[in-house]
Amino acid sequence: MEMIDLIGARMPLEGAQVLDVGSGWLPIIPIMFSFRGVGKIYLTDLNRLMSLPSLNAAIRALRAEEKRIAAHWNLPPGALSAFLAQASSATNLDQALGSLRLSYLAPCDCQHLDLPANSLDLVISRAVLEHVPPPVIQNIFIEAQRLLKPGALTAHIVDNSDHWEHGDKSLSRINFLRFSADFFRWTHINSLDYQNRLRHSQYIAMLRKANLTMVEDRADVDPQALADTKTLPLHPDFQGFAPEDLAAINSWLLARKT
Ligand SMILES: C[S@@+](CC[C@H](N)C(=O)[O-])C[C@H]1O[C@@H](n2cnc3c(N)ncnc32)[C@H](O)[C@@H]1O
Repeated sequence: MEMIDLIGARMPLEGAQVLDVGSGWLPIIPIMFSFRGVGKIYLTDLNRLMSLPSLNAAIRALRAEEKRIAAHWNLPPGALSAFLAQASSATNLDQALGSLRLSYLAPCDCQHLDLPANSLDLVISRAVLEHVPPPVIQNIFIEAQRLLKPGALTAHIVDNSDHWEHGDKSLSRINFLRFSADFFRWTHINSLDYQNRLRHSQYIAMLRKANLTMVEDRADVDPQALADTKTLPLHPDFQGFAPEDLAAINSWLLARKT
């Protein structure tokens, strides 16, 4: 909801044409954008992961939060349920997505999409970029720059923490910065485990390189991770970064095509 509010404060959501990079299984954020009035959201993924059951799981998750969502936007109780009703009773994925103004393009690669230049009002991603190799991210930003209308926005939420810590709380949230690239490669023999270890400042540099102008960025610096930058034996690859950059656990990045 915060992401939608931050974007909604800077552009009209009503009728906007939106692209979601790497939609995964549960299009919770795209459904919320649609609920808030955007005209169409293109959902993307390298693989066709979404199904009617996974879409229904997203709808159930949203229904479970209905009271909180209604209170946040000062809406009548039941407004979200009414919006979701047609999708909930759909018998196939296309019908359900259509009723939510979602268009599923997968399988596709956001480095090159079959959409016209200057056609989108917004390109978003959440929990995607940290799993994407840097040259691919650069191409995704360049493609976003092509697709966005002049003046339109792109917004990204990135989890920069070591994802191995998510399952083992004894680890530092920046533990993975101890390792060389060659050694770290062994942790993601399974490509689903891939993490690029990019830091906050590197995403900003890549957005700028794609000819996008930064509007706002927030680095959520974790105090323990900041302390860990002084005690962990950081690999030389990471020693040239500011401690706050290394300890930025979450990034919020908002840029504009000028
Ligand atoms: C962690 S998952 C999805 C998270 C989802 N956005 C959410 O909020 O639940 C990241 C997804 O990005 C997709 N992805 C990675 N690179 C991509 C690319 N170049 N184009 C489109 N999707 C990509 C992956 O296939 C994966 O399903």
